[in-house]
Amino acid sequence: MMNRNKLYLKFGVRTFIARFIQTLRVKIARIRGYDIHSTVILERKLHLDRLYPGGVHVDEYCLIASGVTILSHDHCKRVNGYPLLADTYIGKRCFIAVNATILPGVRIGDEVIVGAGAVVTKNVPSNVIVAGNPARIIRENIRMNDSAELINWQDGKWTE
Ligand SMILES: CC(C)(COP(=O)(O)OP(=O)(O)OC[C@H]1O[C@@H](n2cnc3c(N)ncnc32)[C@H](O)[C@@H]1OP(=O)(O)O)[C@@H](O)C(=O)NCCC(=O)NCCS
Repeated sequence: MMNRNKLYLKFGVRTFIARFIQTLRVKIARIRGYDIHSTVILERKLHLDRLYPGGVHVDEYCLIASGVTILSHDHCKRVNGYPLLADTYIGKRCFIAVNATILPGVRIGDEVIVGAGAVVTKNVPSNVIVAGNPARIIRENIRMNDSAELINWQDGKWTE
């Protein structure tokens, strides 16, 4: 197995390079009309709603991991013959884990973790972890920093 220090070094170099690409991704998304704060990190293979980009709102210091889907319209619900448009909000310092889906019209609070593969169908309060399909609260009173990392989890243990 690769030596741990080597692995961390490799991770550091990768993160450094990835930052350039991620910043560019956010710039392109903003040009395309998405309301995504410039401090947000966007990973690869995202499915951001293409019909109503202005309805996707992501606040500062969030990390949106690979394969996440964020929707802001519905095909099957029609309004005057047109698809339902519904603004979707993600608060500050949230971590949306790989392959999660956020349905149109959902409002997620600040400092929230959405677990890998979750399907978020309803509003989520601040400072919780949600997971599963449909996503349910699995942990409360979490706190996140400006890198969308947990503050009250250190070295394998929940503190406070
Ligand atoms: C959500 C997450 C952070 C774990 O949070 P946690 O509070 O430590 O959760 P626990 O492991 O203590 O699990 C609590 C319960 O939730 C369930 N659970 C945890 N994560 C889940 C998920 N993603 N989907 C469904 N259920 C999940 C566990 O099975 C457990 O259920 P049980 O009480 O019936 O045994 C983690 O599962 C996760 O999704 N991490 C993201 C990984 C990722 O995306 N990595 C790429 C980084 S870019």
